[in-house]
Amino acid sequence: MPRLRLAESSLLFVGLAFCTRVAGALSGPAQAPISTPSIFAPVSRPAVVIDAYAWLVVAVCGVIFVLVAGLLCFALLRFRLRGDDDGREPPQVYGSNPLELAWTLIPLITVFLLSLVSIRVVGELQLETRPPDWMPVTVVGHQWWWELHYPELGITTANELHVPVSDPASPRPTFLNLQSQDVIHSFWIPQLAGKMDVVPGRQNHVWVEPARTGVYVGQCAEYCGTQHANMLLRVVVHTPEDFERWARGQQRQAVSEASVAEGRDLFLRTACVSCHTVRGTPAAGRVGPDLTHLMSRATLGAGALRNDAANLNAWIQSPDHFKPGVHMPAMGLQDAEINLVAGFLATLK
Ligand code: CUA
Repeated sequence: MPRLRLAESSLLFVGLAFCTRVAGALSGPAQAPISTPSIFAPVSRPAVVIDAYAWLVVAVCGVIFVLVAGLLCFALLRFRLRGDDDGREPPQVYGSNPLELAWTLIPLITVFLLSLVSIRVVGELQLETRPPDWMPVTVVGHQWWWELHYPELGITTANELHVPVSDPASPRPTFLNLQSQDVIHSFWIPQLAGKMDVVPGRQNHVWVEPARTGVYVGQCAEYCGTQHANMLLRVVVHTPEDFERWARGQQRQAVSEASVAEGRDLFLRTACVSCHTVRGTPAAGRVGPDLTHLMSRATLGAGALRNDAANLNAWIQSPDHFKPGVHMPAMGLQDAEINLVAGFLATLK
C-alpha cells in the first residue's frame, strides 16, 4: 500500500531536489531536461490521485488547525488576567452533554469521512481492471542498482526505465512488478506514482501512466546500505514512436566493431563475465547490470556518474572511488588493458 506520509514526503522532497541537481548535472546532452521530482507536480495518474488526496488532507487539517488555534488565541486574550480581576475562578462546567457530544461527534465524523476518501483512493490506486494496452515490467532491486525486465519485449536493462506516454483517450499504463534480490528497497518516482517497498520474497506492484514525455527521476526511498543514496533511477517517457525505436534498439544483440576485438576478447577472459551479460557474446553473468546496450544509458553506477568514455574508463579502474562500498571490484587490470576493455564497452550502444 503506498505510504502517504506528508511530513516524510516533504523532507524527501528537499533531498530529491538536491538529487535532481546531481542528476541534472549528470544528464547527457541527448536527454530531455529533467523536472524537479516533486509530489506536487504529478504527471501520471497514480501521482495525480495522491496529489489531490494530499491537498485534501492538508486542507482539512488546515481548517482544524485554524479553528483550534483561533479559539485558543481568543480565549487567551479574552480571558487573560486583568488589573481589576478579583482572583476568583470563572464558572466551572461539568458533564455538559451538548459539549461532550460536540467534541466526540465532530472528530468522529471528520475521521470517518477521511477514511471513506482514503478507501476510494486506495481502490483507485490498485487499478484492478487493467486497460487492454498495459505493459508489464519487472523491477528487481539490488544493492545498489535497479534491474529492469520487459518480459513481453525480451529486454533487460538497468537503472533507466523507458515507457511510452499514455494518451488519456486510450490509456497505456506500465505495471511494475517489484522484487528484491537482497534487502528491502523502496521504489519511488514522485511525479509518476506513490512510494512502494521492494521486499525480498514478495512481489509488490505499482503502475505509472505518464501523460507527458520527459525524464523523471526517482530514488530508492528505503535505507538499504552504504550506497542507498546512489541508488537512483530515471524514467524516460517516450512518444509511442520513440518508444518503439528504443525497444527495437534494446532487442538487438550487441554488435561490436572489429576495431575493438582485442578489448572484447580481454573482457571475455576476465571475471567481468561472471557478473555481466552482453547478449551476443558468451558473457552471461546475472549479478551486475546487463551491459548489452550500456552506452544507451545516461549514467554509470545507478546515477553515480555520467556515462561517457572517460568516466567509463575511470569507473572500471576503481568503482569504489566513485561509489564507496559498491559490490563491483576493481579488476586489477593494467591501464592499457582498462583502455581496451573500456574501448569495447563504449561500442555497446
Ligand atoms: Cu535501495 Cu535504498
